[in-house]
Formats: sequence, structure tokens, C-alpha cells
Amino acid sequence: MSDSQAVLELAVRLAREAGAIQRERYETDIEIRTKSASTDLVTEVDKACEALIVDALGKERPDDAILAEEGGGSDRDGAEWRWIVDPLDGTTNYAHGYPRFCVSIGVEHNDEREVGVVYDPLLDELYSAVRGEGAFLNGRALRVSNEANFGAALLATGFAYDIRKSLEDNLNHFAHVIKQARAVRRDGSAALDLCYVAAGRLDGFWEMKLHPWDVAAGLLIVQEAGGAISNMRGGPPPRSGRETVASNRHIHAALIDLLDLA
Ligand code: IPD
Ligand code: CA
Ligand code: CA
Repeated sequence: MSDSQAVLELAVRLAREAGAIQRERYETDIEIRTKSASTDLVTEVDKACEALIVDALGKERPDDAILAEEGGGSDRDGAEWRWIVDPLDGTTNYAHGYPRFCVSIGVEHNDEREVGVVYDPLLDELYSAVRGEGAFLNGRALRVSNEANFGAALLATGFAYDIRKSLEDNLNHFAHVIKQARAVRRDGSAALDLCYVAAGRLDGFWEMKLHPWDVAAGLLIVQEAGGAISNMRGGPPPRSGRETVASNRHIHAALIDLLDLA
């Protein structure tokens, strides 16, 4: 088995195990706290999922670096393999019993996106990709949509937790895009939004101020499904997630043009 295949298998196993925790504790009485803002939540389930993943990686891949959202990982420069973990993407949804959330695990090899796994435990949908080998949903090959008409395109976006105090709030972009597209969704899980672009359920997605763990898996999955990924001006998307645009390719230029309007 190749190294990438072994990493994929482990990522799939851990995403499923963390997803099982999310499923079991969904709509139960869980502890919820706030982080950077009163709207930025973390629950005991985020922490339990991260602990499961980080502990297993520590035992099975002790030489690998880990960047995990809730701070449990041990990130460092120079590691050949780097795991980038969002233990629960869609925490606000989870806390409210809104059924849209997932586990996201992206793995870089020598600083390049190599493996991506996103698991939606309620729908039992497992998205996966290895660089150069295509993207899959529960084993079925994924392909982005063919929609080329922006007026018939369905897009998604999201808004950062600092929206109450930042002027860089994405509302201007949202206003421009929603006037031109068929519709724009805001559904609270960036990792799933990216997978939906890969699956052809959405034609495009953009968001500002995301973090590496929101996009590490999803960007590779979009790319391997034949989609386009970029920053807000059409250049390479930063690994930080600060500017993320993904689409079926056909509507990418039109989307970038709209995001470029003030
Ligand atoms: C959030 C979700 C949401 C996006 C936020 C993210 P979290 O991640 O992906 O869709 O709009 O910007 O921070 O906090 O639920 O892991
Ligand atoms: Ca997230
Ligand atoms: Ca999260």
C-alpha cells in the first residue's frame, strides 16, 4: 500500500469514529461555551472528536504534525506529513440541532494537499480524495456540475464570527452575487459546502476569513472533482483559508468578477 493510501485509510477511519460521536450526542444535553465572540461556539463534542483524532494520530503517526482547531494538536515545521483537523465543522448548527455538520481531515505531504476526507455522519456521506486520483462520495466518483450560466447557478457562502464588528463582512459580495445567481445558500459548514461543489450540488462557493482546517480537505476534493479553486482575485487559494473561492470552473470567472466589485 502506498503512503497516501495508508494515510487515506486512517483519515477515513478517524473521520467515521468522530462522526459516530457526533451522531450519538446530537440533540442531547451537551456543554456549550463561547470562543472569539458570543456567536463563536465550541461544544464538548468538538473537543471529544478532536481528542479522539489527535490521540489516535499520536499513537499511529507520531512523526506527523497536527494542526487541530481546538488546539489539541502539535503543529511544527518540517514534518513530512501534516494533518489539518476540523473535528466538527458546523458547530453552530450542531448546537442548535440543525442537521448540517461534519468532520474534516486534510493531510499535506511536504506542504502540498495530498489527502482529504469529510464525513457527514447524519447522511452517512463520506467524501474523499487523494491528489491525482479523483474525488469520491461513498466510493462513487464525483464530478462538478456543468452549469455555465451564472443566472442558473446555485452558490453558497458564509460569514465570519467577527461580523458584528468588522467592515470586511462579505455582505457586499453577497449582495452582488445574489442579484445575479439563481440563489445563494448560507448553511454553516464550509467543509460541506466545498464537498457540495465537488458533488455538483452547488455550482460555486466563496467565503472570507476561513481557517486552514475549514478548507484543507474540501479544496482538494473540489480540485479532484474537476473544479476550480482560487483566492478572491483568481490566484491560488491561500492555505490559511482567508480567501476561498471554489466552483465548477465554468462560472469561476463570472464569480471572481462579481467578488471584485466594491
Ligand atoms: C465555521 C463553518 C461556517 C463558516 C465559518 C466557520 P466551525 O466553522 O465552516 O460555515 O461560515 O466561517 O468558522 O466554527 O463550525 O468549525
Ligand atoms: Ca470549521
Ligand atoms: Ca470546528
